Amino acid sequence: TDIERIRNFSIVAHIDHGKSTLADRLIQLTGTVAERDMKAQMLDAMDIERERGITIKANSVRIDYPAKDGHTYVLNLIDTPGHVDFAYEVSRSMQAVEGSLLVVDASQGVEAQTLANVYQAIDADHEIVPVLNKVDLPAAEPERVKEQIEDVIGIDASESVMISAKTGLGIPDVLEAIVTRLPAPKGDRDAPLKAMLVDSWYDSYLGVVVLIRVMDGVIKKGDQIKMMKTGAAYKLDRLAVLKPQMVEIAELGPGEIGVFTASIKQVRDTRVGDTITHEKKPCATALPGFKPAQPVVFCGLFPVDANDFDDLRDAIEKLQLNDASFSSEMETSAALGFGFRCGFLGLLHLEVIRDRLEREYDLDLITTAPSVVFKLHMRDGEVRDLHNPADMPDLTLVDHIEEPRIKATILVPDEYLGDVLKLCQDRRGIQMDLTYAGSRAMVVYDLPLAEVVFDFYDRLKSVTKGYASFDYQITGYREDFLVKMSILVNDEPVDALSIMVHRDRADARGRAMVEKLKDLIPRHMFKIPIQAAIGGRVIARETLSAMRKDVTAKCYGGDATRKKKLLEKQKAGKKKMRQFGKVEIPQSAFIAALKMD
Ligand code: GTP
Repeated sequence: TDIERIRNFSIVAHIDHGKSTLADRLIQLTGTVAERDMKAQMLDAMDIERERGITIKANSVRIDYPAKDGHTYVLNLIDTPGHVDFAYEVSRSMQAVEGSLLVVDASQGVEAQTLANVYQAIDADHEIVPVLNKVDLPAAEPERVKEQIEDVIGIDASESVMISAKTGLGIPDVLEAIVTRLPAPKGDRDAPLKAMLVDSWYDSYLGVVVLIRVMDGVIKKGDQIKMMKTGAAYKLDRLAVLKPQMVEIAELGPGEIGVFTASIKQVRDTRVGDTITHEKKPCATALPGFKPAQPVVFCGLFPVDANDFDDLRDAIEKLQLNDASFSSEMETSAALGFGFRCGFLGLLHLEVIRDRLEREYDLDLITTAPSVVFKLHMRDGEVRDLHNPADMPDLTLVDHIEEPRIKATILVPDEYLGDVLKLCQDRRGIQMDLTYAGSRAMVVYDLPLAEVVFDFYDRLKSVTKGYASFDYQITGYREDFLVKMSILVNDEPVDALSIMVHRDRADARGRAMVEKLKDLIPRHMFKIPIQAAIGGRVIARETLSAMRKDVTAKCYGGDATRKKKLLEKQKAGKKKMRQFGKVEIPQSAFIAALKMD
């Protein structure tokens, strides 16, 4: 393909502003997929993504577009994930393209993820075409939103393309704007091969599929290639473009985007951001900006039924084939037995993985409290990462503890601003900035990540009736007065319920947790003390009184079927319980106890 006739772009948008619908329309209008094969939301491959309406893995599609100037152009769309947890995936896929369509819902305006994503596009030196979507809605206010884009983002919005991805209005204008307003890629065909590894995934038939963007040189089927960072060498056995199904192609030149397979065993062997070159005639320097995604939120995953441990291990291994950013390590808990300590990019990532384990692999899991990575500065000068509060060493050995902090950006209608400020303040936040854009406020807070991982997002949505949008980035580590709080049930510590907490908030958290547990743990035949403690000191205590009567007692012995039913129900309920010493704790208690209302 003539490089002048290539346009590479991505679509940046806040969740639900219509990115997938627009992508579908572009694919449909250019006949890339036959009408009968058109499934809504072509690019969101996984069911969970479809259900939750979020895009996780970056994917790509190649579109042939006959433009008004009489030439046919190759348009490569790289789909970027919309959610904050996947910010790293967004940033590297941005490096693979020259321009972005900035999609803003004309009835909603700019939101937190619009900002986060468009700043990444600006950082990557993209040409940006603003697209106002949903102009079919009576509530659409395109003129106001244009002004907002100019005020808040600071880019020219006077030539925004007005569309309705739903009705198809304005879609041809988007295609023309891509051709006329976005630049063609640059690259040297005669230089040694230099290609960027944009993404990779595991396909059960083909093995690992690698998505690349060629910068310089030419890549062909059969080529002997080398990954510059990992040093591994492979022979290409398939080269293709995605339309969006795979269509084999003889070669890819500068500016082109495609996929290859090369008998690569696991996704782990392919580092996103790595530079691919020819083994014999390598390029001189690697591409800049290589940075592996680091898990920031950890939690324990344990099978409810200890016999499911092997199934859990297999399921985790399978999921990791496809997601190198999710880490796992075997863990043993005194209370929960064998399980895994897993690391995730954020809370949403955690939920998605847990959901997939439960649904696709039919596992019942206990999830322990999510925890961030604390840095322990030991008295002997060593610095240790603490992934699990249960591993907290003796306090006398620790000099001080640091925790990760984030910069959180929240956009919210004026009337809810007070509630948002209170929420951030309650979570040990420090206000950094407060500005207005139209009738919305934009607040920036410095917050401890640990205070955000439980239920911050849920609380934010509930205090603002869903009108706030939120995005964050990790800024660094800071020392604070942090302690480990243990929970004792019937005088036995339940390690899966220990948390790291700020000393000033420990009493309130401890009280709230024991009160909750008292409601969540069913009564037993004996009295059960439930306590929260720091070191050896109890800071909160509740007592669950003993059960008086047998559950079947009220059946008067007469109705045998009813009695049987009741016992069966009780047995089924037990499936989701875990034995701690003499006490049974339901699975639901583990997360519920940690929520702060
Ligand atoms: P994520 O995949 O979560 O990032 O969302 P998205 O930005 O891809 O949004 P999506 O395309 O899934 O659209 C969100 C919702 O808006 C869907 O219910 C669409 O049907 C609807 N929608 C998209 N475009 C339009 C439009 O032009 N007009 C109207 N009325 N609704 C639209």
